[in-house]
Amino acid sequence: MSKILVTGGAGFIGSNFIRYWLKNEPNDQITNLDKLTYAGNLDNLVDISNNSNYKFVQGDICDFDLVNSLVKKTDLIVNFAAESHVDRSIKNSSDFVKTNIEGTRVLLEAAKNNGGIRFHQISTDEVFGSLNLDDEKFNEKTPYDPRSPYSASKAAADHLVRAYFHTYNLPITVSNCSNNYGPYQFPEKLIPLFIINLIEGKKVPVYGNGQNIRDWIHVDDHNRGVKMIIEKGKIGETYCLGGNNEIKNIEITHKILDILSMGEDMIEFVEDRLGHDLRYAIDFSKAKKELAWEPEIGFSQGLENTIDWYRQNSVWWKKIQNNK
Ligand SMILES: NC(=O)c1ccc[n+]([C@@H]2O[C@H](COP(=O)([O-])OP(=O)(O)OC[C@H]3O[C@@H](n4cnc5c(N)ncnc54)[C@H](O)[C@@H]3O)[C@@H](O)[C@H]2O)c1
Repeated sequence: MSKILVTGGAGFIGSNFIRYWLKNEPNDQITNLDKLTYAGNLDNLVDISNNSNYKFVQGDICDFDLVNSLVKKTDLIVNFAAESHVDRSIKNSSDFVKTNIEGTRVLLEAAKNNGGIRFHQISTDEVFGSLNLDDEKFNEKTPYDPRSPYSASKAAADHLVRAYFHTYNLPITVSNCSNNYGPYQFPEKLIPLFIINLIEGKKVPVYGNGQNIRDWIHVDDHNRGVKMIIEKGKIGETYCLGGNNEIKNIEITHKILDILSMGEDMIEFVEDRLGHDLRYAIDFSKAKKELAWEPEIGFSQGLENTIDWYRQNSVWWKKIQNNK
């Protein structure tokens, strides 16, 4: 039986992770430390809120005393907590630097001070920068080259995590994952935003000419990979997790329009994001070879299921869609 501190567990990926973990390890005890920013939502976990092996603590990962008191009772920390939206980081990077960098440092310091607690850092493929169309995919050896305040803050956090391994022998692992989609994603991100706009009869805003390419992975495939890294990954190592699913933004838009039986007239091309990275793509052969992990949920099926979920859960998104 393990005692796990999950940070940012009221957000999109973290809440799906807690649900996934407790389903597979019902005897483990999870404490979810979350500040409940605009993106944190306890409704994401309403189905397990009465589980005696689950506990919620509202607080900031930058608060050392709080973090230290929780880490004392912990065998494993999984750090999802972050400011996660690139567009917000372009408008104001302050909270990104505080939470993503200082918050990670506080968690690492508490892990070190309490006897070297096992630590897993949830990172992103965005730390690697932007690929041209003919470049090789990102892998664990790709040098970091972050280009937005968001990805720069995540890159700095990852460097700190690795520094605590090299300097203090802290037992860490890192995963760099591509774009996630699935249920409970805050409706500022492309897939839920587009689905909800269309359900409400509004147009969808496609940046620039829609040619930017992302690799999309279902959140359950991501979380299965994280669990495998925690259980079987080599200490000190990094694992890239991807969906094997490179797709242009405009193609995703068409897929969503098709599933909802709507036409191109619902697309509105808007001014491009500043410094918009052209392409992300992940080579996950290390995770496949060492952990026997690969994504299992095909994009067409995953997208249909996700659209169904948003159709059936309008109460969930109507409550939060105007959160700032
Ligand atoms: N969404 C993606 O496609 C994606 C892809 C790869 C990696 N990631 C990484 O996965 C993690 C989770 O992403 P997400 O999409 O679930 O984000 P999210 O924005 O949905 O959730 C973030 C959660 O962190 C909490 N939080 C923010 N600041 C906090 C603080 N100071 N203290 C405690 N809690 C705080 C928020 O309240 C929220 O519940 C992030 O680290 C992100 O960088 C996301």
